[in-house]
Formats: sequence, C-alpha cells, structure tokens
Amino acid sequence: MEPTEHDIASLFDVISGQYDLLNHILSGYTDVRWRRRVVRLSMSQQVKTILDVSTGTGDMALAYKHANDALSVYGVDISREMLKKAGLKNAALPLINASGLSLPFRDNTFDLVSCAFGIRNIYPRENGLKEFFRVVRPHGRVAILEFSMPRGLFGRVYKVYFEKILPLLGNLISRTKAYTYLKSSVEAFPDPGTFCRMLASAGFKNIKTTNLTRGIATIYTGEK
Ligand SMILES: C[S@@+](CC[C@H](N)C(=O)[O-])C[C@H]1O[C@@H](n2cnc3c(N)ncnc32)[C@H](O)[C@@H]1O
Repeated sequence: MEPTEHDIASLFDVISGQYDLLNHILSGYTDVRWRRRVVRLSMSQQVKTILDVSTGTGDMALAYKHANDALSVYGVDISREMLKKAGLKNAALPLINASGLSLPFRDNTFDLVSCAFGIRNIYPRENGLKEFFRVVRPHGRVAILEFSMPRGLFGRVYKVYFEKILPLLGNLISRTKAYTYLKSSVEAFPDPGTFCRMLASAGFKNIKTTNLTRGIATIYTGEK
C-alpha cells in the first residue's frame, strides 16, 4: 500500500537532522555532483525563475543559486522540519510548505520546475507530473533527478549494497526505518522508459534521459 502524505512528511520530519549527512555518506558525496549535473543540463539564458518541488533541505534549489545567484528559486516541501534545515542554509530562499500535488502557484508561472529524489514519494505520480506541467510556462522545462536500478554485473553488485548495506547503515544511524522505505520506494519506481512515457502523458515533449554513475540515478528533462 502507498504511504499517505502525512506518513511521508512525518518520516522526513524525523530524519531531517541526519538527512544531509546520510545522503553524503551513503552516496560517497556523489549526490552533490548529480545535482550539479542537473543544473548544467537544465539551465539556459531563458531560465530565470525556478520551482524546486520536494526541496527538502534545499540542496537542489541551492545548487541553482550557487550556479547563478540572480536566479529566483522557490522551494516547496510537505515536511516542515526539512524546510527548517533548508532555511538555515539560506534564509533568503522562499520556502513553502505545500504538496507537489497541489502547488500554490498560477498556471504557466516558472521557467523551470526541478525535483530531486522527490517524485518517487509523490502519489499518484501522474498527478504530480500534471501539476508540474501546469505551473511551467509554455516552452519552459522540467528537470527530475531520481534513483534508478543499474543493470548487468555492476547492477548485481550494487543491488547487494542497496538492498542490504544501505538500509542497515541508514536505519542504524537515523534510528528509523526510513532507509527500508527508501529501498522499497526505489524498487517500486518505474524504469526510465516507463517514466518517460508518464512525462509524455503529462504533456512534456523533447524528453531526454541522462544516466548517472552507471545508472544508479537518472536525470529526466523535458519541455512544455
Ligand atoms: C529524498 S528527499 C529529497 C530532498 C531534496 N530534493 C534533495 O535533493 O536532497 C524527498 C523530499 O520530498 C518531500 N516530499 C514527499 N512527498 C511530497 C509531496 N507530495 N509534495 C512535496 N514534497 C514531498 C519530502 O518531505 C522530502 O523532503
């Protein structure tokens, strides 16, 4: 059964204190490089306003600000505690406690909507993607970073780390079951081909995928 928004918000509220550290430890700081790659792939001269959905502790939103401080970047998340951590990193970042399923913005507002490791938690995912589409302006962009499961020999080795070591370490350090949820939510997430079709159904065109670290994560970009 899919968790409710309330369950997910509570889970992230609880792990908010250890979230960044665990991200960096469990990914060997690769998460930082992945977000920078999202910035490079999605930025253009036309992008001036960005909405980062599921912004959490703000690292995706701040990666855009680090690339260009003149950008107007907004962050949205359902977890108040995660947003508090984001606010401590940059007090000037506009942060809104709202759901990706019901964004408090007018149609066609942003040049770009980004979402890093967030769409996996938004149910129903199709409705989230439609909502992203609604708030992007015509010819604007979407950039989504999400875990994927690598294939082949590397995939088999990674599976052992991802299914056994990561939940064990993550749960131990966070003293929660959050990293068991991470494992099951990644395994339940559609493969890149299926997710591209979902983006197309939401209305996006020119959808492209970029494999990161042999397929551990994938960046999806598209246009309205
Ligand atoms: C894995 S964290 C990712 C945080 C950040 N984007 C990053 O790159 O580290 C997922 C975030 O999605 C948020 N989230 C989950 N469901 C959401 C929803 N329906 N609407 C908005 N945010 C949501 C969670 O509260 C959490 O902060």
